[in-house]
Amino acid sequence: MLTHDEKVLGSMLAELGGITDEPGRLTRTFLSPAMERAAILVGSWLQDAGLDVQVDSVGNVIGFRKAANPKAKTLILGSHLDTVRDAGRFDGPLGVLLPVVALYELNSRGVELPFNVEIVGFSEEEGVRFASAYLGSEGYTGRLKAGTLALRDAAGVAVRDALAAFSDKPLPKPRYRRSELLGYVEVHIEQGPVLEKEKLAVGVVSAIAGQSRFKLTWTGKAGHAGTTPMALRRDAFTGAAEFALAAEQLARRTPGLVATVGSVTVAPGAANVIPGQVLHTLDVRHAKDAVRRAALFQLGRLGAQIARRRGLKVSWQRTQDNGATPCSPGLTTRLERSVKAVQGRSLSLVSGAGHDGVVMSSLAPIAMLFVRSRHGLSHHPDEYTAPKDLRVALEVMIDFLQKLAAEHRS
Ligand code: GLV
Ligand code: MN
Ligand code: MN
Repeated sequence: MLTHDEKVLGSMLAELGGITDEPGRLTRTFLSPAMERAAILVGSWLQDAGLDVQVDSVGNVIGFRKAANPKAKTLILGSHLDTVRDAGRFDGPLGVLLPVVALYELNSRGVELPFNVEIVGFSEEEGVRFASAYLGSEGYTGRLKAGTLALRDAAGVAVRDALAAFSDKPLPKPRYRRSELLGYVEVHIEQGPVLEKEKLAVGVVSAIAGQSRFKLTWTGKAGHAGTTPMALRRDAFTGAAEFALAAEQLARRTPGLVATVGSVTVAPGAANVIPGQVLHTLDVRHAKDAVRRAALFQLGRLGAQIARRRGLKVSWQRTQDNGATPCSPGLTTRLERSVKAVQGRSLSLVSGAGHDGVVMSSLAPIAMLFVRSRHGLSHHPDEYTAPKDLRVALEVMIDFLQKLAAEHRS
């Protein structure tokens, strides 16, 4: 029996899912007003679980509870609180709130953990505002680079200036050395169809695919849409469109490769004007770094060929580059042990989506628990995980924490 169960978790997810920057749909982006409100709500739940709460200078909400032993190591649990545009309520918040409910349950059972516990709600993982993901975990681990701080959002505000407006404190220093940590464990919805196909509520991640993101600018010549003959045009949009199709073809014929042009801005943007400039994003991922790099080389050549043939200029700005990240064998084996105890069978999965664990792996061994997504759907308001699957995930987390506690007591 659980006193704090999937119903408690479900109502917390629903309440947090109601905090948005855009009326009528769920959108929370880095350092936005809704993110500040979300941080206050999550902070209050962390406090209820007996954690001391702070918000760091990049907007991460951090709850910390010290163990009785002053030499105890720390286990970090968490995920992100920002969302894509018109998001579902599970991607990110589940990994912050499920550990909170697990602690409520352990507290009410009077279980004392012999290690420190930290729960983090990262302020940015989706890369919506600056087309570069992981700003929250990069800030937390002290890895925000000058190039990232100089990136600008659609309104022309640089990351550096957005941070200065948010906090007058310096960028965070890493809170821990690797030797002080037991690890980082992230619970996340699968965002894919494998667990559903296998009829399993949860699975364990073996590795997270590498990903690169770019902003491409195509420059042609704007002109009159009625008077300029087709042969004399330098249409930046059709060049970009040809490139997007070429990227799609390359990904279709390369097993495991995914390539996406997800955001396009056409200028000047009028029905009767030939597009003079196009700015678009490109997101490329593969579980093997060598395949991803070879694809990027190929895409660079394709872009140059298309631009040459059409009399256009194309320039690339790399906004993100993360190699494939393996999960830690030691921590993953322990998570699998708990999955087997609760579910009977454990399944190993590779994550095509990026996660805060990618950046956290620079600081600590990482492990990830995936929870079934209905129809494998995510980054969509219909994203859904059934209460019975939330329950399994909660029981796995409680079992994992109890077994880890038993190891550290003995
Ligand atoms: C994060 O959700 C990603 O784009 O993988
Ligand atoms: Mn996520
Ligand atoms: Mn996401």
